[in-house]
Amino acid sequence: MKKEDIQQVISELQALKCETLKDVEEARVHFLGKKGVITALFEEFRTVDREQKAEFGRPLNELKQLAIAKVEELRDSLALSEAASGPREDLSMPGDTLELGSRHPVSIVRKEIVDIFRKFGYDVAEGPEIEDDYHVFEALNFPPNHPARDMQDTFFISAGHPNPLLLRTHTSSVQVRAMEKMSLPIRVICPGRVFRNEAISARAHCIFHQVEGLYIDENVTFADLKQAILLFAREMFGPDTQIRMRPSYFPFTEPSAEVDVSCNICHGKGCNICKGTGWLEILGCGMVDPNVLKASGIDPEKYSGFAFGMGLERIAMLKWQVNDLRHYFENDLRFLREFSTAVEV
Ligand code: DAH
Repeated sequence: MKKEDIQQVISELQALKCETLKDVEEARVHFLGKKGVITALFEEFRTVDREQKAEFGRPLNELKQLAIAKVEELRDSLALSEAASGPREDLSMPGDTLELGSRHPVSIVRKEIVDIFRKFGYDVAEGPEIEDDYHVFEALNFPPNHPARDMQDTFFISAGHPNPLLLRTHTSSVQVRAMEKMSLPIRVICPGRVFRNEAISARAHCIFHQVEGLYIDENVTFADLKQAILLFAREMFGPDTQIRMRPSYFPFTEPSAEVDVSCNICHGKGCNICKGTGWLEILGCGMVDPNVLKASGIDPEKYSGFAFGMGLERIAMLKWQVNDLRHYFENDLRFLREFSTAVEV
């Protein structure tokens, strides 16, 4: 082994110039690779005499460090300049804008209704969409096989069972769950999705949304019901709104009524939305039937209450004069964007 051999490689390294990263890699292999010149010198070093080891060991190690540093230096500077010469960002380009979604009209109406009743002191409750016959019908005073069940065409999940599972046809089932769970007095509002086996049309759908309300205390009367609905209607449709109640029938309330509000489009003159009558039907209601109280363990001699239920799609249709219920389910962005500026109360 000769000192000149080492010196020769040092000079080579000092003179080394690379144009590309590929050249740097070739240089690395040439000097430091398995068959590289420095590796070869280390091989040779193994064969030198003991006395000579001290003489060559240090310069050899220094040579290796020099080669590693040189390769790294070349690699770093070329990587930088290659990145700098690549395609540059155009900093004057406009940024990507984030398109904000908006609330669905049914959600807007639900929030308005819930907020109004919250102000009146009602709690919000939810119940399961897959319910049993007991909570949807039986506890609400629909005896088995009673024709009133035909008012709500039901999707059964486990028909034939004594208490079959089904998709709830109304949120009145949550009334029952509230009466079972909550302590008296009860003031509760229950928004939720309901299901009926209806042919889909402009006026009906197999999935829609309701809000149910229930108030139970001592001495609750029909006058309280009327006042609660009137206050709600004025908050929802404007301070001049009038209501009228028509006698109706629901198995779970006695007496029962349907409520109309004065048409806020024609103000009673008659238009195509109110079909010339000046009135729009918005909900069903009544005094909770004593049988319903009894079924949930509430003493009808001591307590009385009222309940009401309304369809959210129907209220949203009236509010924005939408004439086809199906728009609410099709997720057509052209329709949904119409509500991006809808004011929330
Ligand atoms: N559950 C009824 C329906 O789906 C709506 C309803 C009417 C709810 C009268 C009530 C009520 O609580 O008192 O048609």
